[in-house]
Amino acid sequence: MHETMQAAVARRYGTAEVLAIEKVPVPAPNDRQVLVEVQASSFNALDGHFLTGTPYFLRLLSGLRTPKRLIHGADVCGVVRASGSNVSRFAPGDVVFGECDGGGFGQFLAVKEDHIVIKPPSVSADDAAATPVAGLTAVQGLRSQARLQPGEHVLINGAAGGVGTFAVQIAKALGAEVTAVCSTRNVEMVRSIGADHVVDYHHDDFVVGGERFDVMLDNVGNRTPTACISVLRSDARYVAVSGPKANPWLDPLPHLARTAIAMKRAGRSFHQFTANANIQDLEFLATLLEQRTVVPQIERIVGLDGVADGFTEIASGHARAKIVVHPGS
Ligand SMILES: NC(=O)c1ccc[n+]([C@@H]2O[C@H](COP(=O)([O-])OP(=O)(O)OC[C@H]3O[C@@H](n4cnc5c(N)ncnc54)[C@H](OP(=O)(O)O)[C@@H]3O)[C@@H](O)[C@H]2O)c1
Repeated sequence: MHETMQAAVARRYGTAEVLAIEKVPVPAPNDRQVLVEVQASSFNALDGHFLTGTPYFLRLLSGLRTPKRLIHGADVCGVVRASGSNVSRFAPGDVVFGECDGGGFGQFLAVKEDHIVIKPPSVSADDAAATPVAGLTAVQGLRSQARLQPGEHVLINGAAGGVGTFAVQIAKALGAEVTAVCSTRNVEMVRSIGADHVVDYHHDDFVVGGERFDVMLDNVGNRTPTACISVLRSDARYVAVSGPKANPWLDPLPHLARTAIAMKRAGRSFHQFTANANIQDLEFLATLLEQRTVVPQIERIVGLDGVADGFTEIASGHARAKIVVHPGS
């Protein structure tokens, strides 16, 4: 059994320059965790929040002065190598995927057994690793929060990123009509994954044109509550996945509070949530991947030496779809 491993490690808060590839001890699983040898992980905007420690209120959980999480990467697909004493669902050799509390940008990680499921054999490790955080957010935003129904019209603001590319495909799988908002360079990609209508925000404005929606899944939070209300039908649901990030102390809280109040006054329902890993939603995603109803859009695959560049891209706010990481290469 390995005692050490390679990982991209960040020992202080900062931007990509705080990362170093280091040899560190292989983590020991507790009695409810499994030890996974990571085949692939992937980037999420979430990793950027943990790397920089912003918004600052996040540090109450992530460590006030120095980060508790040294190795980022909250998505994992890999092979179970050992199990804690109370683990009943997995055995060494199982290939699993799911969400972890960081660790994906290292060769081994310990993950809770109820945050992973068996990877269907026909699904590639890269596709499985691209899915958990973004796919869970899209499923929970559209299905659990908005209760999106077949035939309804959904507006997905921010359709080209991790969450957006899953949301477009999952909304189509749920039988909805999809209008997707993205920049010019992503129009063809977003159309190719099933969007019925694409609004290129460099040239058009979803607020103008008179279209009304049953659901708005907002992965950006760049518009005023009044603008959003103006495109929502009277019984519509607004789901806030994200909000502005200009103020590292408070954002996105003031925007979310203003939007919640305005939506209530206007009679629209407001939903804000933090996606969570659970077996039921991961199994649902596994089925969609197996059926190829959802095909993760992988922009590129990098080794540990590409992790710093991946963080820089995520920080730009314009990462396209998913960047997969192979920590073993
Ligand atoms: N609530 C939760 O539980 C939860 C879970 C996951 C993520 N999130 C949050 O949700 C957001 C999206 O996450 P992600 O992982 O999908 O991020 P991501 O992969 O970094 O994607 C961000 C996307 O936003 C798009 N974008 C930027 N400005 C835009 C604009 N003005 N209009 C439309 N699209 C715009 C970009 O596309 P273009 O290049 O085409 O502009 C980019 O593809 C992040 O803020 C993240 O923190 C929340």
